[in-house]
Amino acid sequence: MMWPKRHRSLWMSSKKCVALNMTVPLVILGAGGNCIDILDAITARDAAANPYRVVGFLDDDPERHGEMLCGYPVLGAIRSAAQCTSGFPNAVFVNGVGSPKSFLQKPACIASTEIARNRFVSIVHPAATVSPHATIGQGTVILAHATIGARAVVGDHVMILPGCVVGHDCRIDAYAIVAAGTTLCADVHLQTSCYVGAGSVILGGITVSTGALVGAGSVVTRDVLSDTVVCGNPARRLRHG
Ligand SMILES: CC(C)(COP(=O)(O)OP(=O)(O)OC[C@H]1O[C@@H](n2cnc3c(N)ncnc32)[C@H](O)[C@@H]1OP(=O)(O)O)[C@@H](O)C(=O)NCCC(=O)NCCS
Repeated sequence: MMWPKRHRSLWMSSKKCVALNMTVPLVILGAGGNCIDILDAITARDAAANPYRVVGFLDDDPERHGEMLCGYPVLGAIRSAAQCTSGFPNAVFVNGVGSPKSFLQKPACIASTEIARNRFVSIVHPAATVSPHATIGQGTVILAHATIGARAVVGDHVMILPGCVVGHDCRIDAYAIVAAGTTLCADVHLQTSCYVGAGSVILGGITVSTGALVGAGSVVTRDVLSDTVVCGNPARRLRHG
């Protein structure tokens, strides 16, 4: 297609930008399902408005090194992040590690990279809605169709998976994970490194303490003590630790 004359210089300059690779290389920690959702959140952005160019994943399972995942390579181990990404000295990172089995290892996993905090970036899917009065921390991920309400404060390295609703004035501390389709009513406080299972509802004003796990589909009506597993409707303690 021949561009109208007045648009030709614009087209030339955007071509030059692409040719010069002016987007920032981005590496995703982990190569599981959440990581593919993060990849989608990045690539869903219109190329012209996308500051990042995904260069690959890192994973601590040596069997995955060299694998192509959705068209992107698994470059090497998370704990060797600096070495595996030495070809991209200005690379930035985002973490996608964190399942109901591994969520407590997330801080150590991120620390093992020895990558500075300011090189972790936050990713918000273009189909998520974030109140202009909410605060989002460094390295945090907010996936498709999640809604973050007014005055919510979301800390560093938090993962909010697709379709979650975070009510106004909620506080979500570092490393917490909120699985798909969960609703946090207003004023909920999720403390560090807790995991809220898919499709749960946490009633207003409740605190889920550090390291706790809420089972899928639970309705949490009372505060949850640290390092406990609760589930059901109403949620009851399944075990401690
Ligand atoms: C809560 C959970 C961690 C328990 O796992 P577990 O320790 O392996 O427990 P078990 O499967 O052995 O179940 C133990 C008991 O709890 C019950 N139970 C397990 N999960 C439950 C849940 N979410 N709600 C209600 N009851 C549950 C089981 O039926 C079983 O009851 P029984 O002893 O009467 O038979 C797990 O079931 C869960 O919900 N994980 C979160 C999954 C999730 O949200 N993934 C998100 C991906 S996006």
